[in-house]
Amino acid sequence: MKINLISDTVTKPSPGMLDAMMSAEVGDDVFKADPTVNRLEEKVAAMFNREAALYFPSGTMTNQTAIKLHTNPGDQLICDKYAHVYNYEGGGVSFNSGVSCKLVDGYRGMMTSAQVEEAINPPDFYHSPLTSLVCVENTTNKGGGACWDFSELERIKKVCEKHGLAYHLDGARIWNAMVEKGESAKQYGELFDTISVCLSKGLGCPVGSVLVGDKEMIDQALRIRKILGGGMRQAGFMAAAGIYALDHQIERLAEDHRKAKEIGVILQGLPFTKKVEPIETNIIIFEINEDYLREQAFIEKLLEKDIHLIGMGSSKLRIVTHMDYTDQMHDTLLKTLKTL
Ligand SMILES: Cc1ncc(COP(=O)(O)O)c(C=O)c1O
Repeated sequence: MKINLISDTVTKPSPGMLDAMMSAEVGDDVFKADPTVNRLEEKVAAMFNREAALYFPSGTMTNQTAIKLHTNPGDQLICDKYAHVYNYEGGGVSFNSGVSCKLVDGYRGMMTSAQVEEAINPPDFYHSPLTSLVCVENTTNKGGGACWDFSELERIKKVCEKHGLAYHLDGARIWNAMVEKGESAKQYGELFDTISVCLSKGLGCPVGSVLVGDKEMIDQALRIRKILGGGMRQAGFMAAAGIYALDHQIERLAEDHRKAKEIGVILQGLPFTKKVEPIETNIIIFEINEDYLREQAFIEKLLEKDIHLIGMGSSKLRIVTHMDYTDQMHDTLLKTLKTL
């Protein structure tokens, strides 16, 4: 039995999701004539209580589009040093928007409002790039699935308002934060200019992300999506998976979080574990004591049992729980870890 814990993106559509996809009514979405895509966009906009939304093939493209929307070439955005937009989008910030990143040394991918305010370049000091955007990520990927304190996000919003900065949320895993903290999509919708959400991570869709914002902004985003080559034709087959996931697969994220915490408890008690980072959602980052085992040797030992996880360098490893990680797999993993 293969146990794949490298990411929550390894899932396959559930039977219910496949049925929804197979029976989707579709059209050509490049002409905005796919009724299922339109329905998904209306649904996500309504969830966040915003005017409009736009379906995209990936979370990277939604973030990159948002950055393009809020900046001009030469500008600077502020983000945490762990941010996905900085680390894992292929340098798209500079490639697509001609923008640089001011990196903040936050805690597990999260900045304080004071750090954000300090990172703003004075607008009249024309030698420095003009700060125009703040990007935050919830939950944080490289930060180990950490959830923001909502009141800190509110304080950052105040800083953005004071300095006339746009505010974008990379909410690839916002569903995990909402389930874990009992928060609503509407409260996020109220705070941010744009939000990107992913359907292909914890929610189990094969593909798809959505950008949410005001109508004017989303109209502009449609043009940027076109430029980036992100227009899709009968995308309703995929959008149907998204609608199904939003209706049926959000609450179950709590199960992924429970399993991640149980794995954390076992890891904490093992002699080769140096440190387990706090576990709030479905991502576990832990450090092994290299006096016992080297990172690669650890990964290979688990591979012998067909258990797959990812090394992050510096003796750190990552496990991500997800929909296709069954109770039986969970029992096997816990037993295997105890006997390593
Ligand atoms: C926080 C975060 N943002 C954005 C993305 C990009 O999503 P995609 O892989 O769909 O481009 C990811 C992907 O893992 C992510 O973790």
